[in-house]
Amino acid sequence: VLEITTAEEAGFCFGVKRAIDMAMEAVQDESDIKVYTLGPIIHNPQVVEKLEELGIRSVEDLSEIDSGVIIIRSHGVEPKTIEQAENKGLTILDATCPYVKKAQKNAQLLMEEGYQTLIYGDQDHPEVKGILGATDYKALIVEDKNDLDEIDLQSKVGIVAQTTKSPASFKELIGLLLNRVKELKIYNTICNTTQVRQSGAENLADDVEIMFVIGGFNSANTNRLAEICSNTGTPTYHIETAEDIEWSWLENINKIGITAGASTPDWLIKEVIQAMSEEKKDLEIEEKEQEEIEE
Ligand code: F3S
Repeated sequence: VLEITTAEEAGFCFGVKRAIDMAMEAVQDESDIKVYTLGPIIHNPQVVEKLEELGIRSVEDLSEIDSGVIIIRSHGVEPKTIEQAENKGLTILDATCPYVKKAQKNAQLLMEEGYQTLIYGDQDHPEVKGILGATDYKALIVEDKNDLDEIDLQSKVGIVAQTTKSPASFKELIGLLLNRVKELKIYNTICNTTQVRQSGAENLADDVEIMFVIGGFNSANTNRLAEICSNTGTPTYHIETAEDIEWSWLENINKIGITAGASTPDWLIKEVIQAMSEEKKDLEIEEKEQEEIEE
């Protein structure tokens, strides 16, 4: 029996699903009005293409448009971007993930309460830029624990993290800060979806003969999942669609594991499983969710 198992939390996270649903609803409701996203709504070329077919176009900058609906994607934007959109008279559909909104609010609060505010995250990531904007660009970004040496730490320090940071590295950073400051206020803004997805992928990779990670080649979180699975020693293939599969990979394989990045829609995961089932139709296929194995 060929067994295909899907890992826990494979595919869209809550925030991305919500943003895509909002975009879909917008084209349905606003059929005569142009609908745009500010930057690609997610890092998945197949989804972006599908949205384009529905009439949702991605723009890099607000200067490219002067009317219509603009969708703010799940990792949020700087408040000044919202202001610019308002000033242009655009209709704003804010699909910022509520967890990202929380991180923005927490950083703003720290600043208002007089804490020297630190944001643990990647300075080029749009989510971090949005959080920084929420503090009126006064917070300091810490990309790495070594950055602490460059900062003149004050006695009252507050910190938030980019939602996708690893809890272990955040804890390490907090430990270092504790040694150096008198008062430390921490908002744990890490979203655990990423952790659950990564540990689910790792556990499953340990349990199968071959692992497929589905998601955009340009998606950082999908690449990270592929790296985690591959580190278990199980042969791992990062694919975008079923077309990327070489069927020789499945020869003499009975247990296949599948996971997918946060920007991979369910329909792409199903397509891959379907293609495997068709290829191996002479074999009996059993699809399961990872939890069932563990029970
Ligand atoms: Fe939101 Fe967490 Fe996804 S912060 S966008 S649910 S990874």
